[in-house]
Amino acid sequence: MANEQGAHWFTERRRHKIEKILRENGINPELFRREFICRRIEWRARSLGLSPSEYVDSIEKLKGELQRLIRDFTVKVTSFFRDPEVWYKLEDEIIPEIARKWRFLNIWCAGCSTGEEAYSVAATCVRSLKRFGLRTYIRVIGSDIDREAIEIAKSAKYPRERIKEIPERYREYFEISEGYIIPRNSIRGLVEFKAEDISRAQYPEGFFNLILLRNVLIYMSKEIRSELIRRVSQKLKIGGLLILGKSEVILSPASYGLSIYDLDNRIYRRIDYEEDPRSCPWLYKNRFGFLENNRF
Ligand SMILES: C[S@@+](CC[C@H](N)C(=O)[O-])C[C@H]1O[C@@H](n2cnc3c(N)ncnc32)[C@H](O)[C@@H]1O
Repeated sequence: MANEQGAHWFTERRRHKIEKILRENGINPELFRREFICRRIEWRARSLGLSPSEYVDSIEKLKGELQRLIRDFTVKVTSFFRDPEVWYKLEDEIIPEIARKWRFLNIWCAGCSTGEEAYSVAATCVRSLKRFGLRTYIRVIGSDIDREAIEIAKSAKYPRERIKEIPERYREYFEISEGYIIPRNSIRGLVEFKAEDISRAQYPEGFFNLILLRNVLIYMSKEIRSELIRRVSQKLKIGGLLILGKSEVILSPASYGLSIYDLDNRIYRRIDYEEDPRSCPWLYKNRFGFLENNRF
């Protein structure tokens, strides 16, 4: 297994070559730890019976390999209602709280892969609001750096066998048709998707009362991770919530203007910045140049 010290084959020249390939394919190489890059390459090389250096040196000549490697860099593993406890917490506690406080649910599913998570959150909102007798506007934006994944998300068709990922209580929001699971129109109509890199784009515009950034940070370097947490946290309304994946944790939430809401489920709440009381982070200029606030 490669590690920072062990990957002798990963010379400066090879590193430049791989970084160039990633850049040319719209992927920012700085997002990845060196160790992660080496592991991906070693894994692909092994599957073709090559050494990692042979693999990098001849990658252009290996049919379809460039596309294959790029796909491997955007790890897309996901499922409907991944880690069920978080969804029950959302349904029972978080969604009613947000709906009562703001009267609308503006949700960003950042790094949503093939869309299962975005449809899961839409179904959870609809069920929760019905249970608690609340009526409110719901908008879910799903974004991912991977265009192919976003196309699958938009097509909203998933193999029938995956129905087992959907807990019984949420099944009514999905139908099975011609061997596929398809979110019902009442759910699909609430969700929109866009292919975007979280670390670069201005998208999505505005502020959110709930952001899911789950299992996106795991393989990123420490610096990129904190930059993304900072950027994403600033997209939260004050009092809004950020949910990370089960194996992700924010070590000093206060430095991002966050406090811990539920550590077990990796949920954080946006608080006021304390460092500079003169700043007004809740005020921002919208695209028309008018001042708006992100508090209410
Ligand atoms: C492991 S999946 C997680 C999917 C989903 N959030 C979940 O927890 O099931 C990670 C996703 O993050 C996306 N991703 C990685 N870096 C990204 C970036 N800079 N901008 C947007 N999406 C990114 C990948 O393409 C991948 O689809």
